[in-house]
Amino acid sequence: MHSVVDLRSDTVTVPTPEMRRAMFEAEVGDDVFGDDPTVNRLQEMSAALLGKEAALFVPSGTMGNQVAIHTHVRPGEEILLEESCHILSYELAAASVISGAQTRPLKGVRGIPAPADVERAVHIEDDHTPGTALLCLENTHNLAGGTVLSPEGMRALCETAHRNGLKVHLDGARLFNAAVALGGEARLLADGADSVMFCLSKGLACPVGSLLCGSREFIVKAHRNRKMFGGGMRQVGIIAAAGIVALETMIARLTEDHARCRRLAEGISRMPGLSVDMASVQTNILYFQVGHPRYTAEQLVQRLAREGILCLNLDARSVRLVTHKDVDSEDIDRALEVLEQVTGEL
Ligand SMILES: Cc1ncc(COP(=O)(O)O)c(C=O)c1O
Repeated sequence: MHSVVDLRSDTVTVPTPEMRRAMFEAEVGDDVFGDDPTVNRLQEMSAALLGKEAALFVPSGTMGNQVAIHTHVRPGEEILLEESCHILSYELAAASVISGAQTRPLKGVRGIPAPADVERAVHIEDDHTPGTALLCLENTHNLAGGTVLSPEGMRALCETAHRNGLKVHLDGARLFNAAVALGGEARLLADGADSVMFCLSKGLACPVGSLLCGSREFIVKAHRNRKMFGGGMRQVGIIAAAGIVALETMIARLTEDHARCRRLAEGISRMPGLSVDMASVQTNILYFQVGHPRYTAEQLVQRLAREGILCLNLDARSVRLVTHKDVDSEDIDRALEVLEQVTGEL
C-alpha cells in the first residue's frame, strides 16, 4: 500500500516538530495592542529580511495583498496588474469590491509585464480617466509556472512605475522560492517595491500567516486597515512562533523542492501525450499540458488520484503539480512511475 503523494499545492505542508514546540512554548500578549513579543519579533525579522522598515502579520496572503491595495489606493483609482496574477485571478475581485479600485490587466511574458506596457497604460487623472495609482507584481508567478522576476526586471518595472507616480506592491507569496532559485537574498527582489507580501503558509510550511512589509508610515496605515478587515488577532504569537522557525530553518531547503520539481518536469516531458514548457519550470511549480484527444486534464487528474497521486487540473488541458517539504525523492519516483503507467494506457 503506497501513501498518498499530494502535489496539489505547497499549502498542504504540515508544521515541523520544531514549529509545534515553538508554538507550544510561545510567549504571547494582545497583538492588537502591539503587546505580543513573538509577533513583534517575527515582524522585525521579516522587515529586516526584506530590507524594509516595518512589517505586519496578517492571517493570509489574500488579506496581505488586499490590505496593501486598500492602503495605497483611493476609490476610483486604477491598478495595473499582469493579466494572470493571483490578485486578478483568485481574490474574488476584492480590489474592486473592498477598495473601489478599477483593475487594468496587462499582458505579460511568463507573468512579467513589459515596462513599456506599464508606461503606456498609465492614466493621468482628469475629467475622463481615473488616475493610475498602483502597479502590482508577483514573484514567483503562480499561474505562469512559479517563474522568477529577477532583480534587474524588478528594478526596471519599479523605476517606470515610480517615474509615473505609481506605487508598487509585490505579491511575494513565494518570494523566498524566487530568492533561492537566484541564489540571492529576498531583499534584492523586494528592493524598489513600496510594499511586499510574503506567505509563511506555503513552501515555508507554517499552518497560517503572511507578512506585509513596507515603510513605517505605510505599516501604521496598514495596521489600521487590517483591523477594519477583521484581521486584528490577539494572542497570535502562538502562530507567529512557527513563522520564526520557518524563517530560520525553512528557506534554504526550498532548493530541494526546486530540484524535485525539475526532475518531475523532465520525466513528464518525455511521456507520450504530455508536454511541459521546461523554460517555465524555475522553482517548485510545474504545469503540463495533456495533448491526448481522449483524455482531458480532469480525467487524468481523477485517474491519478485513484493511484494516490494528487494534483490539480486548471483547465481542459493543463495540470499543475507543486513540490514541497512533504514530498520526498521516493514520492517523486512514485509519481513518475504512476504517470508513466497511466499515460501508457492512453
Ligand atoms: C501568488 C499568490 N498570491 C497570493 C496568494 C494568497 O494566499 P492565501 O491563500 O494565504 O490567501 C496565493 C495563494 O496561493 C498565491 O499563490
